[in-house]
Amino acid sequence: MTPGAAAAQGQPGDDAHAVTAQALDEVVAATDLRHLDEVRARYLGRGDGLLTVLKRRVGGMTDPAARAQLGKTLNELSTRVEEALAERQAALSAAVESQRRQSEVVDLTRPAPPLRRGYLHPTTRCARDIRRIFAHLGYTAVGGPEVEYDRYNFTLVNMPPGHPSRDTQATFYIDDVRLLRTHTSPVQIRSMVALGVPLKVIVPGKAYRRDYDATHFPMFHQVEGLCVDRDITVADLKGTLEFFARSMFGPERAIRLRPHHFRFTEPSLEVDVSCMVCGGDGCRTCKGSGWIEILGSGMVHPDVLRNGGVDPDRFTGFAFGMGIERIAQLAYGIEDGRLLYENDLRFIRQM
Ligand code: PHE
Repeated sequence: MTPGAAAAQGQPGDDAHAVTAQALDEVVAATDLRHLDEVRARYLGRGDGLLTVLKRRVGGMTDPAARAQLGKTLNELSTRVEEALAERQAALSAAVESQRRQSEVVDLTRPAPPLRRGYLHPTTRCARDIRRIFAHLGYTAVGGPEVEYDRYNFTLVNMPPGHPSRDTQATFYIDDVRLLRTHTSPVQIRSMVALGVPLKVIVPGKAYRRDYDATHFPMFHQVEGLCVDRDITVADLKGTLEFFARSMFGPERAIRLRPHHFRFTEPSLEVDVSCMVCGGDGCRTCKGSGWIEILGSGMVHPDVLRNGGVDPDRFTGFAFGMGIERIAQLAYGIEDGRLLYENDLRFIRQM
């Protein structure tokens, strides 16, 4: 007969010892705290715990002496079960705790995981590369405002109001006199005025045009260069830009100058570099020609020198301007220029 069944019928006195013995066995056999709670409920549970039920039946006994005697026994047995439960609970809790400590152990001697460093955006890196190359030639980096006066952006670099050359630079106007600069060339004027001549400056910065397609973005980066001194000639321009091209794209590179037209230079020259992919044999990057256009340049127009407060009879100079995104694409082999604007970390980390 199970103790439960005995508790339900039979004599409460005999049952109590059997039930208690069973309870103590189960307490010892409980292997985790949840089991132990089940054991506690089975024997001491308020409503139908086996010992609880027996106590209730003792309350119904008619002989007061026997009732007191058995009540006392039952209390003692319950206490023993409670003590056994408490002891087992302490042991099981200690085991749980020691297991937790073991699994959470912190090894202070273990090397820390490497810190992930930040990355320079390729456009930033390229601007810095360009700046460093020209620093070797004694150029100073300067800046200018992105919100510029129409006068500086156009008029003073020889593009007077109403002149059709303005139309080629789809402009974001702010009001009648101010705009977002469409190129870094206004800084030519600003630096001649601010610094005087002789002068060698490099101007990395943002420029804005109302263009938006796969290869044109409304905001892009340019680097302007300006060198003004006595007796500056096209030979200086060529030597300087050849040094730049070789530093940027490799010592085997050659450059060639092609006649072009800008309002603020005369003569104007576009500069090509021999293809860094095929070495000049012709490939997809150079569209089979072996040459790749990298920048616009020329001898500073006498009017522009004058607008900068410089006497063109005593000083001459050359200027150049290039798109940083384009240089970055060519120098680092980035096929799709849109990657430079998407800020996808997977791309930036690769660089
Ligand atoms: N400002 C010209 C452009 O944005 C580039 C340039 C600068 C050309 C200086 C000649 C001299 O296209």
